[in-house]
Amino acid sequence: MNKPFLQVLKGKKAAHIPCWFMRQAGRYLPEYRELRAQKGGFLELAFDPKAACEVTIQPLRRFHMDAAIIFSDILVIPYALGQDLKFAAGEGPQLPPIRTLDEINALAFDDEKLEPVYEALRLTRKAMQDEGFDQTALIGFAGAPWTVATYMVEGGGSKDYPQTKEMAFARPEIFQRLIDILVDSTSRYLIKQIEAGAEALQIFDSWAGVLNEEQFKRWAIDPVAEIIRRVKAVHPDIPIIGFPRGAALYYPAYLDAVDVDAVGLDTTVPLDWAVQNLQTRVPVQGNLDPMALLAGGDVMKHEAEKILTVLGDKPFIFNLGHGIHKETPPEHVAQLMEIIHSWKK
Ligand code: CP3
Repeated sequence: MNKPFLQVLKGKKAAHIPCWFMRQAGRYLPEYRELRAQKGGFLELAFDPKAACEVTIQPLRRFHMDAAIIFSDILVIPYALGQDLKFAAGEGPQLPPIRTLDEINALAFDDEKLEPVYEALRLTRKAMQDEGFDQTALIGFAGAPWTVATYMVEGGGSKDYPQTKEMAFARPEIFQRLIDILVDSTSRYLIKQIEAGAEALQIFDSWAGVLNEEQFKRWAIDPVAEIIRRVKAVHPDIPIIGFPRGAALYYPAYLDAVDVDAVGLDTTVPLDWAVQNLQTRVPVQGNLDPMALLAGGDVMKHEAEKILTVLGDKPFIFNLGHGIHKETPPEHVAQLMEIIHSWKK
C-alpha cells in the first residue's frame, strides 16, 4: 500500500506532502455540532460507534486530509479504569480526583468499556474504503501517562497541576503506581486499536512541557518508552508518532530513549533546529500555530510556507502545533489544504 502518510512515516518520499490536523473532527464543523446536539453530548457521541465513525470521516469529505484520527478522547482510559467522567458543556472534563494509594489501588482496567472505540475503528476502516478514501490512513491514539494522570489527580483540566506535581515530588512511589497502571492499560488499549484497524498511532503528551529534567525522564520518557516496547513487541510494523508537547530542549533525549517512528513538533520548536537535531533522525510532524489557521489569509499562507520550505525536503507530515481552535472558519482549513497539497517539492 502506498498511502502518502504511511510512506513518510517509513522515511520514504511520497507523491505530495501528507497532512492532517490535530482535533480535525470537532466543534469548528457545523455537521459535528449538529450530530453532537442530536446525541446529547460528547461522550454519547464518542461511545456510539456509528456516530464516532461519521464524525471521524466528516473532515475528510470536506478537505481530503491524508489521515483520519479516530474520534475518541484520551480520557477514555480513566473511564475504563473505573473513574467517572463527565464533559459538562463548555467546562471541559470532570473526574472525581484521585489522591491516595487506596484510590489508585481501586482502579481496575475494564477493556470491555472500550469496545465502542474498537468497533468505531472497524466501522471507520470500512466506511473509508466504501467512500473512496483509499489513500487515507486511519490513526489510533492515546494520551501519555503523565498527561492522563494530570486529569485523574486534579479531577479535570488545570493550569499548573499542583496536586499531580505534589504527588510526583513528595510521594513518587505512589505516583509511580498510578503511572504503571496507565502504562499497562494504555499498552493494551493501543494493541487492541491496531487489531481493530488503526494503521498508525499517536501518543499525546500535551502537558509534558511542565516537567523539570529529571521528572521529564521519569514521567514523560520512561513510561512512553515502555508502552512503545510493549506495542512493538506485538506489532513491530505499525508506526508510532510521539507528541511530547513543550519538550523543548528535551526533544533529543526523548528520541534517544523512545522508539518512535516520528515526532510531533509543537508550535514553539524552531524550524532550523528541528531539521538539524530531529529530522536527521526521524520524520517530523507539525507545527503551524493553530491561531495562524484561525487568522487565515496571508498570515496563514506565510506561516505555512515557511514550514514547508524548511521541513519539506526531508520526511515531513504537515500538521498544527496543537489542536484546531473551535472558532476556526472551515474555509481556512480548505485554503491551508490547497497550499500544502500544491506545494512543489
Ligand atoms: O479529530 C480529533 O482529533 C478528535 C479526537 C480527539 C478528541 N480529543 C476529541 C474531543 C483527540 C485526539 C483528543 C485528544 C485530547 N483530549 C487531548 C490531547 C490533545 C490536546 O489537545 O492536547 C487532551 C488533552 C484531551 C482532553 C480533553 N478532551 C479536554 C481538555 C477537553 C475539553 C476541552 C476542549 O477542547 O473542548 C476534551 C473534550 C473533547 N475531546 C472535545 C473533542 C472534539 C470537545 C468536546 C465537545 O464536543 O464539546
